[in-house]
Amino acid sequence: AAKLVRIEVPANEKPMRRLPEAIIIGVSKCGTRALLEYLSLNPYVVTAKREMNFFNNATLYNQGLDWYKEQMPLSYSNQVTLEKSPDYFECVQCPPRVLSMNSSVKLLLLLRDPVERLISQYMQLMDKYVGTQTMPLFEHWVREPSTGEINVKVPSVRVSIYADHVKNWLSHFPRKQILIIDSKMLTKNPVSEMNKVESFLGLKPYLSKDDIYFNESKGFHCMRLRATGKTRCLGATKGRPHIKVEKETLSTLYAFYNPHNERLKNILGFRMSWF
Ligand code: A3P
Repeated sequence: AAKLVRIEVPANEKPMRRLPEAIIIGVSKCGTRALLEYLSLNPYVVTAKREMNFFNNATLYNQGLDWYKEQMPLSYSNQVTLEKSPDYFECVQCPPRVLSMNSSVKLLLLLRDPVERLISQYMQLMDKYVGTQTMPLFEHWVREPSTGEINVKVPSVRVSIYADHVKNWLSHFPRKQILIIDSKMLTKNPVSEMNKVESFLGLKPYLSKDDIYFNESKGFHCMRLRATGKTRCLGATKGRPHIKVEKETLSTLYAFYNPHNERLKNILGFRMSWF
């Protein structure tokens, strides 16, 4: 088993709360929880206990950065404070706000096949509304009733138009400050992706196959704590089975997202594995 590493506490330091040095800005349903939990296995990373939704919520944002800092865990100066709020991604006013907190903050962005992401979000809404509100059939939900075209009034449909939101972030942040992570790679081969993330965050590669291993019954990777050997998988709301979507709707969706994916490719200068 991998060796437990205790952090080196800098001389004469007391732990304190710090503003995040890195933020997982999205995208919702692309594996943001897995990324956060995997990273928190590294002893040089400390994470906020919940999604703060600070920069995308006027009431919270008006509480100010001191309030935000108070929500962060205690850390030493050689640890990276991290929070994840996937809804920052599509929030127009977030990039300038994050920039004004710390212009050298590191941003982590997961991108999944936009259609799969949309279906995943639909499964989540189905779960959320169970017993209260009924969700329309997926095929009806994504289409405009009168024309049958893909309905851009549905917020979840717009979230998957990655090019628009990435463009907004890049109009405030230099390209090298955002690490783009392919969701499929993180899901299938988490250790090598995590080592890239660690290096982006300025950390020594720590995570190994002992820490993140494939669990047959979950069908996803799970985590093993070095200190105790205990294992832990993400909860049942992560890795939900997806409904089978009609072929015709699927091809309409792929045709809809294709030009946006093409734009994304031109903005990033490379292709994601799913496009
Ligand atoms: P599905 O539920 O559609 O399979 P988020 O945390 O951003 O909401 O993303 C959820 C997605 O993370 C899941 O979508 C799943 O595909 C993906 N994922 C990646 N690694 C995972 C893991 N180890 N356990 C569970 N889900 C994981």
